Amino acid sequence: MTAQSTGTKPPAETSTGLDIAGPPQEMYRFLRDHMPVMAVEHEMMTGTSVALHDDVVTVLQNPQIFSSDGAAEIGQVRPLIPLEIDPPEHAKYRKLLDPLFAPRRVALLEPSTRALAASLIDAVVDQGHCNFHEAIAEPLPSQVFLTMFGLPVERTAEFIELKDGIIRPPVDSSAEAREFRMATGRRIYAVLQEAVDQRLETRRDDFLSQFLDAKVEGTQLTVDEVLDIGYLFFLAGLDTVTASLDCMLAHLAQNPEHQRRLVEQPEDIGAAMEEFLRWETPVAGVVRVAVQDTELSGCPIKAGSKVSVNLGSANTDERFWDNADTVDLDRAVNKHIAFGGGVHRCLGSHLARMEMRVCLDEWHKRVPCYELKPGTTPHYTMGLRSVENLQLVWHNGS
Ligand code: HEM
Repeated sequence: MTAQSTGTKPPAETSTGLDIAGPPQEMYRFLRDHMPVMAVEHEMMTGTSVALHDDVVTVLQNPQIFSSDGAAEIGQVRPLIPLEIDPPEHAKYRKLLDPLFAPRRVALLEPSTRALAASLIDAVVDQGHCNFHEAIAEPLPSQVFLTMFGLPVERTAEFIELKDGIIRPPVDSSAEAREFRMATGRRIYAVLQEAVDQRLETRRDDFLSQFLDAKVEGTQLTVDEVLDIGYLFFLAGLDTVTASLDCMLAHLAQNPEHQRRLVEQPEDIGAAMEEFLRWETPVAGVVRVAVQDTELSGCPIKAGSKVSVNLGSANTDERFWDNADTVDLDRAVNKHIAFGGGVHRCLGSHLARMEMRVCLDEWHKRVPCYELKPGTTPHYTMGLRSVENLQLVWHNGS
């Protein structure tokens, strides 16, 4: 078998008639059935994309063949830590970072996160409508992250604009996107450098201060290493939970029986969230670089080529999942890979889960019945899937 080519830039509506701004599950099925291993050439990446669950897991579980070194092109000037560091060095950084995001540490943040979620929702509940993305999904995780990390919360809007400049650059061509990302990246490094300089003078009670004192195998982290960790966290902390909450609320607004379930049985929110993560997979794909000639499903992959793994497709692959197309809140076993897999599995998953669970809980206590504003359709962004036009309406007291 040879990898099939998609040609160049994907149009907004593909030749298959599938709208890529809409729900992607149909597109994923099309890829699995017709182009499970496919040559791609578009502004985000030139290389090979893989859609079958088993191929995706093979890539994630074999970092010695599919390296993360140089995989991301997100405006950074050095490898991001730990995302672009391969084993065995990768483990040294995870040993340092994992305890900061362990369930026990995250639990300490739950009361303040709950209070923040409640106040953001209280601010809109009486008006009977809101743009959920702007009112809740963006400020909640951003403020939690900035406080814990040690960046000024009052500059949230500026920081959100910066991370959007990397994740969704407002330009058309790949050359312009690269340029835009590099320029935005320089601004992010400047923000981080300023915060590091302040802490070099006086330490505070935040992660940045802890990183400056941290040692990896007895050696103190350098300022560059702190910046390389900070750059990754800046992007991960300010986008992923927002995108996930958008996807979940867009689904719930269109599925009243699932809303009712969360209102009547809030103890099921945790399991429901995992199923929404499987179905929506907001971080739809990650990238690796093949370090040797290899193959996937019989398709040759050349050493040096990029491999884009479609997590969203893997999470809905009927070859792996029973009732893959059913959003089943009673799914007994749910081994989704929305947080990735292998050594680079998401470091922030406990924090993300706590923030989303608290938000869904507080929202459904106050807004038990809601829908999309009539006449609006959720528009999903590419790459990391958020829904910026998520207009919800509800009746007060309903
Ligand atoms: C629902 C929200 C989130 C989702 C869906 C998500 C998804 C992912 C995925 C798919 C990866 C794997 C990347 C790869 O293999 O190349 C990853 C890695 C990572 N995530 Fe998350 N993430 C979320 C929230 C967060 C948060 C809140 C943080 C931190 C504040 C975070 C920090 C990280 C870091 C540092 C890595 C790199 C881990 C490594 O390379 O060892 N994530 N995440």
